[in-house]
Amino acid sequence: MMLRRPRRNRQSTAMRGMANETHLNVQHLVFPLFVLDGSNIRSEIHSLPGIFRFSPDTLLQEIDKCMNLGLTNFIVFPAVADSLKDKTATYSWSPDNFYLKVARDIKKRFPECCLISDVAMDPYSSDGHDGLVRGGEIVNDETLPILAKMWLAQAEAGFDMLGPSDMMDGRVGFIRKALDEQGFTKTSILAYTAKYASAMYGPFRDALDSAPKSGDKKSYQMNPANKSEALIEAELDTAEGADMLMVKPALHYLDVIHLLKEKSNLPIAAYHVSGECAMLRAACNNGWLDFERAMPETLLSIRRAGADVILTYFAKEFAERFPSGI
Ligand code: PBG
Repeated sequence: MMLRRPRRNRQSTAMRGMANETHLNVQHLVFPLFVLDGSNIRSEIHSLPGIFRFSPDTLLQEIDKCMNLGLTNFIVFPAVADSLKDKTATYSWSPDNFYLKVARDIKKRFPECCLISDVAMDPYSSDGHDGLVRGGEIVNDETLPILAKMWLAQAEAGFDMLGPSDMMDGRVGFIRKALDEQGFTKTSILAYTAKYASAMYGPFRDALDSAPKSGDKKSYQMNPANKSEALIEAELDTAEGADMLMVKPALHYLDVIHLLKEKSNLPIAAYHVSGECAMLRAACNNGWLDFERAMPETLLSIRRAGADVILTYFAKEFAERFPSGI
């Protein structure tokens, strides 16, 4: 005789629905978008099929389509021409910066969206590093005032949330103070708390042409072997005023997502990064996996691990397929 039969709860769609532990819908998702200067451009990223670089005009059209699908959260990354890059990333706060202009246009046309920025020097740096390079070293404290200028320009342009992806020590507190002093008390901070020195950022660097010119990012991004260190970063970001904590990448770091969710009361975000999406897309495009099943299962696993918010290049495709969630 068997008293306990777990299969009883799996016998019909209705009963599986009642016993369902994890939900995912479009409000949990953030769609990363790439923007470059110009007009009428929509160029596909070869290592990330289905994802495009948009000029400001086509970007607004894309956002309009997403908003109609109920997808309201966007993180935007600029692809900057090499001729505008320099050692100190001056273009990042220049009044002519197309990224800041497009942010203004997006918030004007779609005031109800949540617009998230990227804060790091790499898209604007001739060295391709997230911080200032001096004598072959990525220096921390001298990077902070540069980031602060970038943040203030972005807050002024109307971004709702700023996303420091640079992993410099002390950046969240430094910027929170700078923002508050200038009256931007409502602008919130999505801290890249545990951002790992991962091989999974390849397609993103292709999209922005932002790979480091020399060396790697291991002296500022975290060692993939470490987990306790994520707690140190989480403590610091929380104390410094972060509004959300993020783990990046997502799938290779589900244990870290779980840990931060257990230890923190802040919302936890996970960045399902370009390489992770590219792997799945490649297998599906080869006919080895079924996208229709593998994509929602993948996103659900990130939620189940503890992510409240997921940044994913599949956000729009999820919204198209599952308007009322799963
Ligand atoms: C850089 C930045 C990176 C990503 C977001 N911001 C790449 C890097 O650190 O080299 C990667 C995102 C992705 O791969 O989807 N500041």
